[in-house]
Amino acid sequence: MAALLALIVITVTPAHAEPRIVGGVVVDNPDEAPWMVALTLSSGYQFCGGALVGSKLVATAAHCVYGRAPGSISVVGGRLDLRTDGGSTSVVAKYQVVEGYSTPSRGKDIALLTLAEPMPYAPLPVAATAGVYAGGNVGVVYGWGRQAENDTNKSPLLHKASIPIMADEQCAAAYARFDAQAMFCAGYPEGGVDSCVDDSGGPFVVDGRLAGIVSWGIGCARPNTPGVYTRVMTYLT
Ligand code: ARG
Repeated sequence: MAALLALIVITVTPAHAEPRIVGGVVVDNPDEAPWMVALTLSSGYQFCGGALVGSKLVATAAHCVYGRAPGSISVVGGRLDLRTDGGSTSVVAKYQVVEGYSTPSRGKDIALLTLAEPMPYAPLPVAATAGVYAGGNVGVVYGWGRQAENDTNKSPLLHKASIPIMADEQCAAAYARFDAQAMFCAGYPEGGVDSCVDDSGGPFVVDGRLAGIVSWGIGCARPNTPGVYTRVMTYLT
C-alpha cells in the first residue's frame, strides 16, 4: 500500500516541483520571515500558522481558532525548527473572528489574535492595493503543514512555496463556492505546488505584504484545483 501511494504521488507531481511541502523548499534564513508564527496546543503540537501584524497581534484563519478557548492556544514566534525551543511563546489573551463566519468555503475565514505578551519581531504589513490580486502575480506561502496530500508526517522545519494567483474567473470555474469578495485562488493549472493541511492560517505574501491566509482547497496540489486563500484586504486595512 505504501509503495502504491508513493507511485501515485510521483505520477501526479510535475517536473518542476520538488518532492516535498507540495513543491516548496525549507526556509533557513531567520530574517526572511520574522513575522511567521506557529499556533500550537499546550502540548506543543502545531496545528496552524499565522503572521504577526503588530507586536501583540496575529492574523490567522478563523477556522484555526473558532470554538477554542483563547488560553488553550499558544503562539510561537522566531522559531523555524519546531524541535528547538528558540524564539518566543505567548498564549492568546483574546481573539476576534469576522461577524458571520461559519465555515471556510463560505468566506470570512480570518481571525485577529491578541497575544498576552508582545513579540520582538518585525510585523508583516497588510496589502494595501487591489492590484496585488491580479491573476499571474506570484506570492509566497509559508507553513509547517503536510508535504503531500496523503502525508501525515509533517516537517518540523518551516517551508515556503512560490505560487501564482489565479484569475477570479478561473477560480470560479474550479470551485462553485468561490466568492471573489472573500477569497482568491493560487495554483498552477497542472498542480504540484500548494499549501496543505496544517498550513491553514499561514500568510500568502505578495511584494512583502500580507495578501492572503491559507483557508481551504480540495486535496492538495491537484491539477486544476488551486488552494483558496482569504482575501485579506477585504477584512483588514
Ligand atoms: N484547511 C487546511 C488546514 O486546516 C488548509 C487547506 C489548504 N488546502 C490547499 N489545498 N491549499 O490546514
